[in-house]
Amino acid sequence: MLDKIKQLQDEIEALGASTKEEVEELRIKYISKKGLVSQLFADFKNVPGEQKKAVGQAINVLKNKALDKINELKESFENAEQGAGGTDLSRPGEPMRLGTRHPLAIVRNEIVEIFARLGFTVAEGPEIEDDWHVFSALNFPPEHPARDMQDTFFIQRDPDVLLRTHTSSVQARVMEKTQPPIRAIFPGRVFRNEAISARAHCIFHQIEGLYVDENVSFADLKQTLLYFSRELFGENTEIRLRPSYFPFTEPSAEMDVSCSICGGKGCNVCKYTGWLEILGCGMVDPNVLDLCGIDSKKYTGFAFGMGIERITMLKYGIKDIRHFFENDVRFLRQFEGTY
Ligand code: PHE
Repeated sequence: MLDKIKQLQDEIEALGASTKEEVEELRIKYISKKGLVSQLFADFKNVPGEQKKAVGQAINVLKNKALDKINELKESFENAEQGAGGTDLSRPGEPMRLGTRHPLAIVRNEIVEIFARLGFTVAEGPEIEDDWHVFSALNFPPEHPARDMQDTFFIQRDPDVLLRTHTSSVQARVMEKTQPPIRAIFPGRVFRNEAISARAHCIFHQIEGLYVDENVSFADLKQTLLYFSRELFGENTEIRLRPSYFPFTEPSAEMDVSCSICGGKGCNVCKYTGWLEILGCGMVDPNVLDLCGIDSKKYTGFAFGMGIERITMLKYGIKDIRHFFENDVRFLRQFEGTY
């Protein structure tokens, strides 16, 4: 029986027709009620039990192939008819898919543009870093847990070489090279030794901001972040600063925005608090300014850092961070036309 199916399959694959009428004849011969393929279904009754599965599958495959083939032949005549024997030159062109920007790139660009309007330029630094720029210059005490192997990816042979765990390392690099006024943001990829789950990944992206000049105050920081949040999440957005701790800022804060999904009323995205935490910030610790060669008696500054994945998930209601790294076109195509 399998041989017979195979033979019929080869026969069907090779089919051709030179007129519409011939196609119709083929259709009757193979796939009409009394056609050869349909007869196989009748013969199926006599197949011994242990072969039923394989034979059944093969018949189904054959049936689909036959249907496709006949349709294909039919269509080729229909198209030709439209063009009165030739190509229809008035037929509209097939649209070409242009591909899409990655959602993380869309949101990063949007954030960069918002800060560009406030005069922030963009700078970048290396992903493979040294201890100084990721930790020491940023005032991390030697026993700080972030220095632990559990959080940071080190290169085995040299504990001074590591993958940056935050984009704050670029702050240190920029301050070492430039004297104030400094007003810049630093987008980039960061790495942490974390178990991958719906909410955490060992690779993600941050945007860091730094503003150093004479008389920069916490009020400047607050107003900058309020402007940013309203541009990104809408003009009715409110912000809330909660005291926090980072080794490189003093005072430090974490910033929440009012939940853009429920408008602050409480929903499952904001866990019924009405607020969503989106970034860490603070006044650059004078120690950090001095360590990076900037006179902390003359200058003050603020810094902030946010995760792009988290903001993108909130903006588009994406429930699982792993979507960003799988490159499934069914996910990516949903961003078609967004720039
Ligand atoms: N680097 C901090 C983090 O990764 C964020 C931060 C940046 C906090 C700048 C304060 C100032 O969590």
